[in-house]
Amino acid sequence: MTEYVVGTVDELPVGSKRIVTVGGVEIGVFNVKGQFYALPNHCFHQGGPLCEGNVGATVVATKESGWKPEWVQEGEVVVCPWHGLEFNITTGRCLGRRHARLRRYRVRVVDGQVRVSV
Ligand code: FES
Repeated sequence: MTEYVVGTVDELPVGSKRIVTVGGVEIGVFNVKGQFYALPNHCFHQGGPLCEGNVGATVVATKESGWKPEWVQEGEVVVCPWHGLEFNITTGRCLGRRHARLRRYRVRVVDGQVRVSV
């Protein structure tokens, strides 16, 4: 596994993302509430550029809320631009297919540099 510098903390403020190719792999690097996460820019559904999708929240309705829809996971959800599957960036889990999860790449910050291991 090799570690690559993908930018600086200043270049990736909270709520931003950057798509990079490192080690021959296209990856989306996200800053979610000050923590960095990296996911493959490849949706397992039909290969869409997942990380290019919008980042936001998702809607749930539970018995506890009286089945009233509520926005949750604000800033943690990326939506695949091809067919709309939602993924939690922090866990890699597909929200519509709970058994499915994306690979996550290790990200760490060293001396203000954001580094991803591939
Ligand atoms: S390719 Fe991502 S939802 Fe279909």
